[in-house]
Amino acid sequence: MKALQYRIAIFASGSGSNAEEIIRYFKHHSSIEVVLVLSNNADALVLQRAARLNVPSCIFNKAQFRESDEVINWLKEAGVTHVVLAGFLWLVPNNLIHAFPNHIVNIHPALLPKFGGKGMYGAKVHEAVKAAGETETGITIHLVNEHYDEGEILFQTSCGVTSQDSPTDIATKVNQLEYRHYPVVIEKWIMPSK
Ligand code: GAR
Repeated sequence: MKALQYRIAIFASGSGSNAEEIIRYFKHHSSIEVVLVLSNNADALVLQRAARLNVPSCIFNKAQFRESDEVINWLKEAGVTHVVLAGFLWLVPNNLIHAFPNHIVNIHPALLPKFGGKGMYGAKVHEAVKAAGETETGITIHLVNEHYDEGEILFQTSCGVTSQDSPTDIATKVNQLEYRHYPVVIEKWIMPSK
């Protein structure tokens, strides 16, 4: 038995490749563990990844998430201390933010404040970066508040974009940055003294 002090819940809506990296990173960690994966999408690949990695998961609908404390109660029952959004597409409601003040983190696949806000997620972000003719993009890891992509920025790093890069090429570069940095930034956020 690990002397676990910190328990993460990951919210994800889709593929969950970041969720998988995070689960794997903390699998043998002495103080941090991913204890729950939650999704608004019953068909999301992240649920299969969680099952494969032996992490329990829950599915919820909009009413459960936005109009009740049901999801918060699941988190409390699982002893969750920190919430990680990884490709989660719904706005986080105030009751959840207040239940975990400054304890919810998100990753955005661009250099905020550029290319953020409602409707800017996944491939749409990379298509917008391409359309704008940007020469660099990157990732932003930030605390979550009641507005999309506006909480305090904890970490940013960039990569170059060439005129030959397609949105898919840009996504590949950004994903590599995400996999390399998100788990480490989460660890430092939870345990700053480490
Ligand atoms: C990731 O690139 C993440 O940064 C992005 O969705 C992708 C999810 O991929 N999040 C957003 O765009 C949030 N606005 P994954 O499900 O394979 O981790």
